[in-house]
Amino acid sequence: MKNAILFCYSYHHSNTRKIADAIAAALPIKVVSVPVREEIDLSHYDLIGFASGIYFSEFGKPIDKLIDSLDGLSGKSCFTLCTHGAPKGDFGGTIRNKLESKGAVVAGHWQCRGFDTYGPFKFIGGLAKKRPNEKDVESAIQYVRSLIEE
Ligand SMILES: Cc1cc2nc3c(=O)[nH]c(=O)nc-3n(C[C@H](O)[C@H](O)[C@H](O)COP(=O)(O)O)c2cc1C
Repeated sequence: MKNAILFCYSYHHSNTRKIADAIAAALPIKVVSVPVREEIDLSHYDLIGFASGIYFSEFGKPIDKLIDSLDGLSGKSCFTLCTHGAPKGDFGGTIRNKLESKGAVVAGHWQCRGFDTYGPFKFIGGLAKKRPNEKDVESAIQYVRSLIEE
């Protein structure tokens, strides 16, 4: 069993937060909100997750800033997860590159849709209503469980 931590940035509808909280309720993992307001020593962890909504096709800028500021990512096993409004798209590529540029080993990426009322979408009642749903939550828990128990 790996000692795991998950950094979470979520501001639009707390969609990503819902996923992170469900993971924390089901699995032994520490969830920390981003921006981080406590001292975190990464040497205590052997699995590090980064969770965010997608904003303009990318993880939130506070996640980028966090990765820039973290010491000790080199050689660490990491994973990423996100929620996004669009029906399609792979949103894990840029963040993977960023983590790899810090020497991290990216074990994988998980994503699902999340309720989105940004810009014009609010006039049609939003995209991805009622997402994430129970199925999404269960899928995220299974995904992180498989990494923790590896
Ligand atoms: C400013 C802004 C920009 C967004 N840009 C995208 C986008 O480029 N692609 C997409 O699929 N969803 C986009 N979304 C929708 C969010 O990714 C989606 O609602 C997500 O679940 C929000 O997560 P959160 O509630 O944890 O913040 C955007 C939302 C906001 C508020």
